[in-house]
Amino acid sequence: MEFLGAHLAFRSRWHKTDQELCRHSMSFILHQALRNDFFESYLYLLERESLVKLYALTSQVIDGEMQFYARSRNFYKDVPATEEGMMGDFLELSDTDIASSREFLRKFVGGPGKACTGYALDCGSGIGRVSKNVLLPIFDNIELVDMMEPFLEEAQNYLEEGVDKVEALYCYDLQEFTPVMKKYDVIWIQWVTGYLTDKDFMEFLRRCKSALRQNGVIILKDNVARDGCRLDPIDNCLIRDIFILRSIIYKAGFNILSEQKQDGFPETLVPIWMIAMQ
Ligand SMILES: C[S@@+](CC[C@H](N)C(=O)[O-])C[C@H]1O[C@@H](n2cnc3c(N)ncnc32)[C@H](O)[C@@H]1O
Repeated sequence: MEFLGAHLAFRSRWHKTDQELCRHSMSFILHQALRNDFFESYLYLLERESLVKLYALTSQVIDGEMQFYARSRNFYKDVPATEEGMMGDFLELSDTDIASSREFLRKFVGGPGKACTGYALDCGSGIGRVSKNVLLPIFDNIELVDMMEPFLEEAQNYLEEGVDKVEALYCYDLQEFTPVMKKYDVIWIQWVTGYLTDKDFMEFLRRCKSALRQNGVIILKDNVARDGCRLDPIDNCLIRDIFILRSIIYKAGFNILSEQKQDGFPETLVPIWMIAMQ
């Protein structure tokens, strides 16, 4: 039944041909054969290669990859380099977010078989809200990557004395960024993967995997749709459901260590999940 949507989408086009062609003509027979073969192979691909489905779903929602990236860049041009800007006007939720992130992170860092506390990378860092409150208290060195230069400039004030632990600030689009191989104990990716297409998201995760040290962990924290995939009309960010997220994570070659829903946020907001992977 999942494939019914695709079938219906094509049927509207096939219907026209069915009406216009003579039922006994060779063209009609050929058309029928092509259509059956096409649909069977399409279903086969959907089942065998779930990214085909994801690409189709995402492309439908984002309405063109170039515009998709241009729109988020445009949106962030007007966002102030403040905590409020990073929280999309939900500043009052920042403390709750940080408290849960710290608690979740503690499960994977320090101690035998866990990640060390040498290097952390904050992806889509903005001004460094996560770096300052979650990563700096634990790690000896941190690095930030974000596409907006003004945010990274502000990070140097915002992080206060913590700035001494900042080894690098990378002004890059994540879809074009390759973190240094085998360097990081933790890579934190919060509220940014919705600005990447499925393919770029998966490939970015793969590059992050190569950047992990022994026992290193990636933590993804993001909005999660209740069903399917939709685009946030305000900031043009994709909100994927948990099945799509897991599928991308597995395709990138990870095992999921733990998943936890963020508590304490209003029920009216999109649910937020933390996912640790290795
Ligand atoms: C909602 S803010 C979150 C900032 C930070 N992670 C936090 O939780 O406070 C999203 C951030 O992602 C950055 N961003 C969006 N698309 C990006 C991309 N394609 N590459 C790198 N950074 C991106 C924006 O510039 C912005 O700083």
